[in-house]
Amino acid sequence: MQYIIATHNQGKLAELRRILAPMGIEAVTVEGLSEPEENGATFAENAYIKAAAACRETGKPAVADDSGLCIDALGGEPGVRTARYAPVGQRKLTVLQKLSGLPRPQRTARFVSAVCCVFPDGRVITAEGICEGYIGTACRGDGGFGYDPIFEIEDGRTFAELDDGEKDAISHRGKALRLFKQKLQEELEKSLC
Ligand code: IMP
Repeated sequence: MQYIIATHNQGKLAELRRILAPMGIEAVTVEGLSEPEENGATFAENAYIKAAAACRETGKPAVADDSGLCIDALGGEPGVRTARYAPVGQRKLTVLQKLSGLPRPQRTARFVSAVCCVFPDGRVITAEGICEGYIGTACRGDGGFGYDPIFEIEDGRTFAELDDGEKDAISHRGKALRLFKQKLQEELEKSLC
């Protein structure tokens, strides 16, 4: 089964591909997809905006992920603005500076991923996943992408210090995609009835 993946983020694309492949879902990219304005108030709304645009432009089922980091000490920021929180190259440092001096119990945060699939006939499937953790005090690890080097799980390792399989097993995106797969199966079974 082929699905268009509506993302320009290579880190995200790699994760979507490797998690969806064992589920029998082939993630296909298309050159020149537009980048619609992500002006939704929630991750789910933004995921829908991206998936709907890609479906409209290609005429094929399209999947998008909208995700971000919600930090309790910052009132849930950066949230849906995670990708635009600070200039490229300064995002992790900006977060670390804002939390400077706070002890670990006050550094709680969560990654959220909303996955949305839009079909040409108008059907929509949405699934969300959350991974709880902490913001570290410095960047650690070489794996992953984005904010991974500053996001610590319970045992103190950052997402960037996990191997791919370990991250996928607990990550917001892994959880969202496993739920998505379940909903997709139900949807496909319904259409066979
Ligand atoms: P989006 O493309 O609008 O969904 O932006 C997502 C933002 O959250 C980007 O800045 C990503 O780097 C960041 N992000 C989302 N998921 C992850 C993750 O798994 N690890 C690190 N950063 C992430």
